[in-house]
Amino acid sequence: MDAMTLLHERNSMGKLMGPAPSAEQLDAIYRAALRAPDHKELTPWRFIEFSGEGLERLGELFAEAEYREDPQTEDKKLNAARKKPLRAPMVIAVIAKVTPELPKVPKLEQVLSAGCAAHAMLMAAQAQGLGAMWRTGHFAFDATVRKGMGLGEHDEIVAFLYLGQPGGRNKPLPERDPADFVERWN
Ligand SMILES: Cc1cc2nc3c(=O)[nH]c(=O)nc-3n(C[C@H](O)[C@H](O)[C@H](O)COP(=O)(O)O)c2cc1C
Repeated sequence: MDAMTLLHERNSMGKLMGPAPSAEQLDAIYRAALRAPDHKELTPWRFIEFSGEGLERLGELFAEAEYREDPQTEDKKLNAARKKPLRAPMVIAVIAKVTPELPKVPKLEQVLSAGCAAHAMLMAAQAQGLGAMWRTGHFAFDATVRKGMGLGEHDEIVAFLYLGQPGGRNKPLPERDPADFVERWN
């Protein structure tokens, strides 16, 4: 697939099956992430890769977060939270490791850089025939989940990237006209 086709046709795939990406595919995915634009070369990116029992541990954290939010939560809702990471054979959390108090590179720029890394990872996945979807949900911002994943005070979970083999049909791409989004100062 050529680069422009990939850029124009990236498509999320929510239905994902095993096997998880291979070691070679993952290496290519991380190498794409590490080329994200990065002001002052802070490399403000970290990744936590969940597969196998790791997905179950992440699910436990989600359920714990749900319970702490509301101890009256029904079991059904706790179980739904527990199962969320199991929707794919692999989930990669993309974390912005923010260096605070850098006037020239505010937190926003560091988080954006991690967002670019996540986008590059989606692209690298699709380029290799994998399916991928960027999710956050409220768990990405939850104190229990953040603590359980060992995040520092200034770190942000930018994405939970769900990765695997495409398990469904690609949805039609939306028709969007650049003219609707672009203002030109000539
Ligand atoms: C920061 C961010 C967080 C997102 N979180 C979720 C989410 O929690 N659940 C969800 O269904 N989609 C989420 N999405 C949207 C999907 O990843 C996807 O972009 C959307 O379904 C549109 O599909 P497309 O990417 O193929 O255009 C998120 C996207 C971004 C950029």
